[in-house]
Amino acid sequence: MRVLSVVGARPQFVKLAPMAKALTGAGVEHVIVHTGQHYDVNMSDSFFKELGIPDPDIHLGVGSGSHGVQTGNMLAQLDPVFETERPDWVLVYGDTNSTIAAALAAVKLHLPLAHLEAGLRSFNRAMPEEHNRVLTDHAADLCLAPTEVALGHLVAEGLGDRSVVVGDVMVDVCLQVRDQVAGRPLTVPVDRDHPFVLATIHRAENTDDEQRLRSIIIALAEITVPVVLPVHPRLAAKATAAGISLTQGNIRTVDPLPYPALVGAAAAASGVVTDSGGLQKEAFLLGTPCTTVRTETEWVETLGGGWNILDPDASHVAQLAVRRKPSAERGEPFGRGTAAEAAVQALVEFNR
Ligand code: UD1
Repeated sequence: MRVLSVVGARPQFVKLAPMAKALTGAGVEHVIVHTGQHYDVNMSDSFFKELGIPDPDIHLGVGSGSHGVQTGNMLAQLDPVFETERPDWVLVYGDTNSTIAAALAAVKLHLPLAHLEAGLRSFNRAMPEEHNRVLTDHAADLCLAPTEVALGHLVAEGLGDRSVVVGDVMVDVCLQVRDQVAGRPLTVPVDRDHPFVLATIHRAENTDDEQRLRSIIIALAEITVPVVLPVHPRLAAKATAAGISLTQGNIRTVDPLPYPALVGAAAAASGVVTDSGGLQKEAFLLGTPCTTVRTETEWVETLGGGWNILDPDASHVAQLAVRRKPSAERGEPFGRGTAAEAAVQALVEFNR
Protein backbone atom coordinates (compact mmCIF):
# COMPACT_ATOMS: atom_id res chain seq x y z
CA MET A 1 0.00 0.00 0.00
CA ARG A 2 1.19 3.49 -0.80
CA VAL A 3 0.00 6.53 1.16
CA LEU A 4 0.68 10.08 0.08
CA SER A 5 0.46 12.69 2.88
CA VAL A 6 -0.09 16.33 2.01
CA VAL A 7 0.94 18.87 4.66
CA GLY A 8 1.77 22.55 4.58
CA ALA A 9 1.14 24.32 7.87
CA ARG A 10 2.70 24.00 11.31
CA PRO A 11 0.00 21.95 13.09
CA GLN A 12 0.05 19.46 10.24
CA PHE A 13 3.74 18.74 10.73
CA VAL A 14 2.99 17.84 14.36
CA LYS A 15 0.30 15.36 13.24
CA LEU A 16 2.50 14.03 10.44
CA ALA A 17 5.26 13.00 12.87
CA PRO A 18 3.42 10.06 14.51
CA MET A 19 1.74 9.12 11.21
CA ALA A 20 5.05 8.93 9.33
CA LYS A 21 6.45 6.71 12.07
CA ALA A 22 3.39 4.44 12.20
CA LEU A 23 3.12 4.12 8.41
CA THR A 24 6.77 3.21 8.01
CA GLY A 25 6.54 0.87 11.01
CA ALA A 26 3.68 -0.98 9.32
CA GLY A 27 5.68 -1.38 6.10
CA VAL A 28 3.52 1.10 4.17
CA GLU A 29 5.20 3.13 1.44
CA HIS A 30 4.82 6.79 2.44
CA VAL A 31 5.27 9.80 0.18
CA ILE A 32 5.32 13.25 1.84
CA VAL A 33 4.25 16.33 -0.12
CA HIS A 34 4.82 19.76 1.48
CA THR A 35 2.75 22.50 -0.13
CA GLY A 36 4.99 25.28 1.23
CA GLN A 37 2.08 27.13 2.92
CA HIS A 38 4.42 27.67 5.87
CA TYR A 39 8.02 28.26 4.87
CA ASP A 40 9.96 30.13 7.59
CA VAL A 41 12.51 27.83 9.24
CA ASN A 42 10.80 28.11 12.65
CA MET A 43 7.35 27.50 11.09
CA SER A 44 8.39 24.45 9.05
CA ASP A 45 11.92 22.97 8.92
CA SER A 46 12.38 23.03 12.68
CA PHE A 47 9.36 20.73 13.08
CA PHE A 48 10.72 18.17 10.62
CA LYS A 49 14.10 18.24 12.36
CA GLU A 50 12.93 18.19 15.99
CA LEU A 51 10.22 15.57 15.44
CA GLY A 52 12.38 13.29 13.28
CA ILE A 53 10.09 13.52 10.24
CA PRO A 54 11.70 12.44 6.96
CA ASP A 55 12.29 15.34 4.55
CA PRO A 56 9.37 15.91 2.16
CA ASP A 57 9.69 13.95 -1.09
CA ILE A 58 8.09 16.82 -2.98
CA HIS A 59 7.98 20.50 -2.02
CA LEU A 60 5.59 22.74 -3.95
CA GLY A 61 6.82 26.04 -2.50
CA VAL A 62 3.49 27.86 -2.90
CA GLY A 63 4.11 30.36 -0.07
CA SER A 64 1.61 32.94 1.15
CA GLY A 65 -1.28 34.59 -0.67
CA SER A 66 -4.99 35.27 -0.44
CA HIS A 67 -7.11 32.17 0.20
CA GLY A 68 -8.01 31.77 -3.48
CA VAL A 69 -4.51 32.34 -4.81
CA GLN A 70 -2.86 30.09 -2.23
CA THR A 71 -5.41 27.26 -2.57
CA GLY A 72 -5.49 27.57 -6.37
CA ASN A 73 -1.70 27.40 -6.66
CA MET A 74 -1.69 24.23 -4.58
CA LEU A 75 -4.45 22.65 -6.67
CA ALA A 76 -2.65 23.36 -9.92
CA GLN A 77 0.61 21.92 -8.63
CA LEU A 78 -0.87 18.84 -6.96
CA ASP A 79 -2.49 17.49 -10.15
CA PRO A 80 0.73 16.32 -11.82
CA VAL A 81 2.13 15.04 -8.51
CA PHE A 82 -0.92 12.87 -7.89
CA GLU A 83 -0.94 11.66 -11.53
CA THR A 84 2.68 10.54 -11.21
CA GLU A 85 2.46 9.02 -7.74
CA ARG A 86 -1.03 7.39 -8.03
CA PRO A 87 -1.17 6.50 -4.31
CA ASP A 88 -3.70 4.10 -2.75
CA TRP A 89 -4.60 6.88 -0.34
CA VAL A 90 -4.17 10.62 -0.33
CA LEU A 91 -4.05 11.50 3.36
CA VAL A 92 -4.90 15.05 4.46
CA TYR A 93 -4.66 16.57 7.92
CA GLY A 94 -6.78 19.07 9.84
CA ASP A 95 -8.39 22.15 8.34
CA THR A 96 -5.97 24.43 6.52
CA ASN A 97 -5.88 25.60 2.92
CA SER A 98 -3.40 22.78 2.23
CA THR A 99 -6.05 20.30 3.45
CA ILE A 100 -8.85 21.48 1.18
CA ALA A 101 -6.56 21.89 -1.84
CA ALA A 102 -5.28 18.32 -1.59
CA ALA A 103 -8.79 16.98 -0.94
CA LEU A 104 -10.16 18.63 -4.07
CA ALA A 105 -7.21 17.58 -6.20
CA ALA A 106 -7.54 13.95 -5.02
CA VAL A 107 -11.26 13.51 -5.59
CA LYS A 108 -11.11 15.12 -9.03
CA LEU A 109 -8.57 12.48 -10.01
CA HIS A 110 -10.66 9.70 -8.37
CA LEU A 111 -7.94 8.96 -5.85
CA PRO A 112 -9.14 7.57 -2.49
CA LEU A 113 -9.04 10.34 0.10
CA ALA A 114 -8.65 9.96 3.86
CA HIS A 115 -9.07 12.85 6.31
CA LEU A 116 -7.24 12.73 9.61
CA GLU A 117 -8.88 14.83 12.36
CA ALA A 118 -12.27 14.54 10.65
CA GLY A 119 -15.58 15.61 12.17
CA LEU A 120 -14.49 18.70 14.09
CA ARG A 121 -17.03 21.49 14.01
CA SER A 122 -17.00 25.01 15.43
CA PHE A 123 -20.30 25.82 13.66
CA ASN A 124 -18.76 29.25 13.04
CA ARG A 125 -19.03 29.83 9.32
CA ALA A 126 -16.89 32.96 9.51
CA MET A 127 -13.80 30.79 10.09
CA PRO A 128 -11.93 29.71 6.94
CA GLU A 129 -11.02 26.49 8.77
CA GLU A 130 -14.71 25.54 9.23
CA HIS A 131 -15.28 25.48 5.46
CA ASN A 132 -12.03 23.62 4.91
CA ARG A 133 -12.93 20.86 7.35
CA VAL A 134 -16.59 20.45 6.37
CA LEU A 135 -15.82 20.29 2.65
CA THR A 136 -12.91 17.92 3.20
CA ASP A 137 -15.02 15.54 5.31
CA HIS A 138 -17.69 15.41 2.62
CA ALA A 139 -15.12 14.78 -0.12
CA ALA A 140 -13.35 12.03 1.84
CA ASP A 141 -13.77 8.27 1.39
CA LEU A 142 -12.50 7.69 4.93
CA CYS A 143 -13.00 10.06 7.85
CA LEU A 144 -10.57 9.38 10.71
CA ALA A 145 -12.22 10.98 13.72
CA PRO A 146 -10.23 11.88 16.86
CA THR A 147 -13.15 11.64 19.32
CA GLU A 148 -16.68 10.34 19.80
CA VAL A 149 -17.97 13.92 19.58
CA ALA A 150 -16.36 14.27 16.15
CA LEU A 151 -17.87 10.94 15.07
CA GLY A 152 -21.28 12.23 16.19
CA HIS A 153 -20.96 15.21 13.82
CA LEU A 154 -20.00 12.94 10.93
CA VAL A 155 -22.93 10.61 11.62
CA ALA A 156 -25.32 13.60 11.82
CA GLU A 157 -24.11 14.69 8.38
CA GLY A 158 -24.68 11.26 6.84
CA LEU A 159 -21.01 10.25 6.78
CA GLY A 160 -21.18 7.52 9.44
CA ASP A 161 -20.55 4.61 7.07
CA ARG A 162 -17.17 5.98 6.06
CA SER A 163 -16.08 7.19 9.49
CA VAL A 164 -14.09 5.59 12.28
CA VAL A 165 -12.77 6.87 15.63
CA VAL A 166 -9.02 6.36 15.86
CA GLY A 167 -8.18 8.79 18.67
CA ASP A 168 -6.13 11.94 18.39
CA VAL A 169 -2.61 11.65 16.98
CA MET A 170 -1.59 14.78 18.88
CA VAL A 171 -1.76 12.77 22.09
CA ASP A 172 0.84 10.39 20.65
CA VAL A 173 3.33 13.13 19.89
CA CYS A 174 2.58 15.52 22.77
CA LEU A 175 3.05 12.94 25.53
CA GLN A 176 6.19 11.53 23.96
CA VAL A 177 7.74 14.98 23.67
CA ARG A 178 6.63 15.87 27.23
CA ASP A 179 8.60 12.89 28.51
CA GLN A 180 11.62 13.75 26.36
CA VAL A 181 11.86 17.32 27.63
CA ALA A 182 10.97 16.61 31.29
CA GLY A 183 13.67 18.09 33.53
CA ARG A 184 15.36 20.01 30.72
CA PRO A 185 15.83 23.78 31.18
CA LEU A 186 13.12 25.93 29.60
CA THR A 187 14.10 27.80 26.46
CA VAL A 188 11.77 30.73 27.16
CA PRO A 189 12.78 33.81 29.19
CA VAL A 190 11.14 32.95 32.53
CA ASP A 191 12.03 31.27 35.78
CA ARG A 192 10.23 27.92 35.92
CA ASP A 193 9.98 28.16 39.70
CA HIS A 194 7.71 31.20 39.46
CA PRO A 195 4.26 31.36 37.85
CA PHE A 196 4.13 32.43 34.20
CA VAL A 197 1.61 32.31 31.39
CA LEU A 198 2.19 31.01 27.85
CA ALA A 199 0.10 32.89 25.27
CA THR A 200 -0.38 32.54 21.50
CA ILE A 201 -2.68 34.56 19.24
CA HIS A 202 -2.68 34.04 15.48
CA ARG A 203 -6.20 33.49 14.10
CA ALA A 204 -7.54 35.79 11.43
CA GLU A 205 -10.59 36.66 13.53
CA ASN A 206 -8.33 37.89 16.36
CA THR A 207 -5.52 39.52 14.38
CA ASP A 208 -7.18 41.12 11.35
CA ASP A 209 -9.45 43.54 13.23
CA GLU A 210 -7.27 46.30 14.65
CA GLN A 211 -9.48 47.15 17.63
CA ARG A 212 -9.90 43.53 18.61
CA LEU A 213 -6.19 42.83 18.38
CA ARG A 214 -5.40 45.93 20.43
CA SER A 215 -7.76 44.89 23.24
CA ILE A 216 -6.42 41.32 23.31
CA ILE A 217 -2.82 42.55 23.60
CA ILE A 218 -3.78 45.02 26.35
CA ALA A 219 -5.52 42.18 28.22
CA LEU A 220 -2.39 40.01 27.98
CA ALA A 221 -0.21 42.91 29.13
CA GLU A 222 -2.31 43.27 32.28
CA ILE A 223 -1.77 39.71 33.51
CA THR A 224 0.05 39.93 36.83
CA VAL A 225 2.75 37.32 36.02
CA PRO A 226 5.20 37.15 33.09
CA VAL A 227 3.48 36.28 29.79
CA VAL A 228 5.60 34.46 27.19
CA LEU A 229 4.21 35.30 23.74
CA PRO A 230 5.69 33.36 20.78
CA VAL A 231 4.88 35.65 17.85
CA HIS A 232 3.30 34.04 14.77
CA PRO A 233 4.20 35.93 11.55
CA ARG A 234 0.56 36.91 11.01
CA LEU A 235 0.46 38.50 14.50
CA ALA A 236 3.75 40.31 13.89
CA ALA A 237 2.56 41.70 10.55
CA LYS A 238 -0.87 42.81 11.78
CA ALA A 239 0.48 44.38 15.00
CA THR A 240 3.13 46.32 13.09
CA ALA A 241 0.59 47.55 10.53
CA ALA A 242 -1.75 48.71 13.31
CA GLY A 243 1.05 50.31 15.36
CA ILE A 244 0.40 47.97 18.32
CA SER A 245 3.37 47.22 20.57
CA LEU A 246 3.61 43.54 21.53
CA THR A 247 6.04 44.20 24.36
CA GLN A 248 3.62 45.97 26.69
CA GLY A 249 3.29 45.26 30.41
CA ASN A 250 4.27 41.75 31.41
CA ILE A 251 4.51 40.40 27.85
CA ARG A 252 7.83 38.84 26.81
CA THR A 253 7.87 38.13 23.08
CA VAL A 254 9.83 35.25 21.53
CA ASP A 255 10.02 33.80 18.00
CA PRO A 256 7.67 30.90 17.18
CA LEU A 257 8.88 27.98 19.28
CA PRO A 258 10.11 24.59 18.12
CA TYR A 259 7.67 21.88 19.23
CA PRO A 260 9.70 20.51 22.20
CA ALA A 261 10.20 24.04 23.53
CA LEU A 262 6.47 24.73 23.22
CA VAL A 263 5.52 21.54 25.04
CA GLY A 264 8.09 22.23 27.77
CA ALA A 265 6.76 25.77 28.24
CA ALA A 266 3.09 24.69 28.21
CA ALA A 267 3.80 21.98 30.79
CA ALA A 268 5.67 24.35 33.11
CA ALA A 269 3.28 27.32 32.71
CA SER A 270 0.67 28.04 35.36
CA GLY A 271 -1.77 29.00 32.61
CA VAL A 272 -2.14 29.08 28.82
CA VAL A 273 -4.01 31.75 26.86
CA THR A 274 -4.55 30.96 23.20
CA ASP A 275 -6.72 30.88 20.10
CA SER A 276 -4.94 27.80 18.71
CA GLY A 277 -6.81 24.50 18.50
CA GLY A 278 -3.65 22.48 19.05
CA LEU A 279 -2.50 24.42 22.10
CA GLN A 280 -5.92 24.13 23.80
CA LYS A 281 -5.53 20.38 23.55
CA GLU A 282 -1.87 20.35 24.54
CA ALA A 283 -2.68 22.40 27.66
CA PHE A 284 -5.42 19.89 28.53
CA LEU A 285 -3.12 16.89 28.00
CA LEU A 286 -0.37 18.51 30.06
CA GLY A 287 -2.71 19.52 32.88
CA THR A 288 -2.33 23.28 32.47
CA PRO A 289 -5.48 25.45 32.75
CA CYS A 290 -6.29 27.12 29.44
CA THR A 291 -8.19 30.27 28.52
CA THR A 292 -9.33 30.40 24.89
CA VAL A 293 -9.89 33.75 23.22
CA ARG A 294 -12.65 32.61 20.88
CA THR A 295 -16.43 32.47 20.82
CA GLU A 296 -16.41 28.67 20.57
CA THR A 297 -14.09 25.71 20.34
CA GLU A 298 -14.11 22.57 18.19
CA TRP A 299 -12.40 20.79 21.08
CA VAL A 300 -15.40 20.85 23.43
CA GLU A 301 -13.95 17.99 25.50
CA THR A 302 -11.33 20.41 26.88
CA LEU A 303 -14.07 22.52 28.52
CA GLY A 304 -14.98 19.72 30.96
CA GLY A 305 -14.27 20.54 34.61
CA GLY A 306 -13.09 24.05 33.73
CA TRP A 307 -9.74 22.98 32.28
CA ASN A 308 -10.43 25.24 29.30
CA ILE A 309 -12.61 28.36 29.54
CA LEU A 310 -13.80 30.47 26.61
CA ASP A 311 -13.23 34.21 26.99
CA PRO A 312 -14.41 35.57 23.63
CA ASP A 313 -13.45 39.23 24.20
CA ALA A 314 -10.43 38.58 26.43
CA SER A 315 -12.23 40.68 29.04
CA HIS A 316 -11.54 38.21 31.87
CA VAL A 317 -8.08 37.07 30.77
CA ALA A 318 -6.26 38.82 33.62
CA GLN A 319 -8.11 36.71 36.22
CA LEU A 320 -8.61 33.51 34.21
CA ALA A 321 -4.97 33.20 33.13
CA VAL A 322 -3.79 32.89 36.72
CA ARG A 323 -6.61 30.74 38.09
CA ARG A 324 -5.82 27.61 40.07
CA LYS A 325 -5.75 24.17 38.49
CA PRO A 326 -9.23 22.64 38.52
CA SER A 327 -9.60 19.57 40.70
CA ALA A 328 -11.78 17.72 38.14
CA GLU A 329 -10.41 14.58 36.49
CA ARG A 330 -9.67 15.13 32.80
CA GLY A 331 -10.24 11.57 31.62
CA GLU A 332 -8.93 10.49 28.22
CA PRO A 333 -11.36 11.91 25.63
CA PHE A 334 -8.57 12.07 23.02
CA GLY A 335 -7.37 8.50 23.46
CA ARG A 336 -4.23 7.04 24.98
CA GLY A 337 -1.54 7.89 22.44
CA THR A 338 -2.09 5.04 19.99
CA ALA A 339 -4.10 6.96 17.39
CA ALA A 340 -1.49 6.82 14.62
CA GLU A 341 -1.39 2.99 14.69
CA ALA A 342 -5.21 2.90 14.69
CA ALA A 343 -5.32 5.30 11.74
CA VAL A 344 -2.88 3.14 9.76
CA GLN A 345 -4.95 0.05 10.53
CA ALA A 346 -8.09 1.83 9.26
CA LEU A 347 -6.27 2.84 6.07
CA VAL A 348 -5.32 -0.80 5.51
CA GLU A 349 -8.83 -2.10 6.25
CA PHE A 350 -10.64 0.45 4.08
CA ASN A 351 -8.16 0.11 1.20
CA ARG A 352 -10.14 -1.06 -1.82
C1 UD1 B 1 -2.82 28.72 8.90
C2 UD1 B 1 -4.18 28.01 8.92
C3 UD1 B 1 -4.70 27.95 10.34
C4 UD1 B 1 -3.68 27.34 11.28
C5 UD1 B 1 -2.36 28.11 11.15
C6 UD1 B 1 -1.30 27.51 12.04
C7 UD1 B 1 -5.51 28.34 6.86
C8 UD1 B 1 -6.70 29.01 6.29
N1 UD1 B 1 -5.16 28.73 8.12
O1 UD1 B 1 -3.06 30.06 9.33
O2 UD1 B 1 -5.87 27.13 10.35
O3 UD1 B 1 -4.18 27.44 12.59
O4 UD1 B 1 -1.94 28.07 9.78
O5 UD1 B 1 -0.17 28.33 12.12
O6 UD1 B 1 -4.91 27.51 6.21
N2 UD1 B 1 3.72 33.74 7.13
C9 UD1 B 1 5.07 33.92 7.21
N3 UD1 B 1 5.86 32.79 7.22
C10 UD1 B 1 5.36 31.54 7.16
C11 UD1 B 1 3.99 31.39 7.05
C12 UD1 B 1 3.17 32.48 7.05
O7 UD1 B 1 5.57 35.03 7.27
O8 UD1 B 1 6.14 30.56 7.19
C13 UD1 B 1 2.86 34.94 7.17
C14 UD1 B 1 2.47 35.49 5.82
O9 UD1 B 1 2.39 36.87 5.93
C15 UD1 B 1 1.10 34.92 5.61
C16 UD1 B 1 0.54 34.91 7.02
O10 UD1 B 1 1.66 34.60 7.85
O11 UD1 B 1 0.33 35.69 4.73
C17 UD1 B 1 -0.55 33.91 7.25
O12 UD1 B 1 -0.13 32.59 6.84
P1 UD1 B 1 -1.21 31.53 6.30
O13 UD1 B 1 -0.56 30.22 6.06
O14 UD1 B 1 -1.97 32.15 5.17
O15 UD1 B 1 -2.23 31.41 7.48
P2 UD1 B 1 -1.98 31.21 9.05
O16 UD1 B 1 -2.47 32.43 9.73
O17 UD1 B 1 -0.61 30.73 9.35
